[in-house]
Amino acid sequence: MKTVDFRLDGKIALVTGASRGIGEAIASTLAEYGAHVILVSRKQEALDTVSKKIGEAGGKSTPIACHMGKMEEIETLFKQIKDTFGRLDILVNNAATNPYFGDLLNADENVWEKTNGVNLKGPFFMTQNAAKLMIESGGGSIVNVASVNGISPAPFQGVYSITKAGLISMTKAFALELANQNIRVNALLPGLTETKFAAALFTNDDIYNYAVSRIPMGRHAEPMEMAGAVLYLVSDASSFTTGTCSICDGGMLI
Ligand SMILES: NC(=O)c1ccc[n+]([C@@H]2O[C@H](COP(=O)([O-])OP(=O)(O)OC[C@H]3O[C@@H](n4cnc5c(N)ncnc54)[C@H](OP(=O)(O)O)[C@@H]3O)[C@@H](O)[C@H]2O)c1
Repeated sequence: MKTVDFRLDGKIALVTGASRGIGEAIASTLAEYGAHVILVSRKQEALDTVSKKIGEAGGKSTPIACHMGKMEEIETLFKQIKDTFGRLDILVNNAATNPYFGDLLNADENVWEKTNGVNLKGPFFMTQNAAKLMIESGGGSIVNVASVNGISPAPFQGVYSITKAGLISMTKAFALELANQNIRVNALLPGLTETKFAAALFTNDDIYNYAVSRIPMGRHAEPMEMAGAVLYLVSDASSFTTGTCSICDGGMLI
């Protein structure tokens, strides 16, 4: 009988936004479970620091700077992956941006283009490139880090919430199209997690207290509390699971 298998030995994984926060927690967990992790974000130096920490803990990683809003950088990244590793087994689209805190009626084209570029266009072409490589080697697993805001938009975060709803839809569309290629595509929907990304919520008592009041567990999450769900989704432990959303939100969406 098949046993439950969370190990990732021999797998090549790519995590975007791996230089800090939720992405760093995911990357270090996948490395701990045996994957060689390609660490991606815009800043090489920050990635080098994470790679060093992973190495000190006995894991393997390769840090490569790449901007998720720049198509030519995504193409160069995949050429490098193909030349160096010849395969990709796991992709975690985690990087995102939220440059605008305000109402939808005043959001300008620049905000729309930037948020969509990094949060939707980037993951779309990352997935397209990754899936082509995965098909060559017989399959793989992709996780998109969306947000509870993709289901229930947060005040003054409308543009960001729209991109996260789009990412949930993209997860299902790719899951449907790639299921017969042995490629599974799922989403993680984090709730309030203490990272630089959410700093605006943590530095204002009124906003923080409002956000926590919506969470039945009565607290925010630490980045590592998101990593276990991703490990499950990328490993063979979830071998019959595709097109789903794993919601880690302390009960907010109940
Ligand atoms: N924190 C929360 O409460 C929360 C809740 C729901 C969902 N999420 C989602 O969780 C994911 C991770 O967020 P986080 O909270 O961990 O944020 P974070 O700590 O600010 O980390 C964001 C990461 O993305 C990278 N990044 C940003 N823009 C990029 C770009 N254009 N190209 C490549 N990399 C880029 C950053 O590194 P560089 O600066 O080096 O590029 C960094 O590694 C995001 O998708 C976010 O929407 C977070």
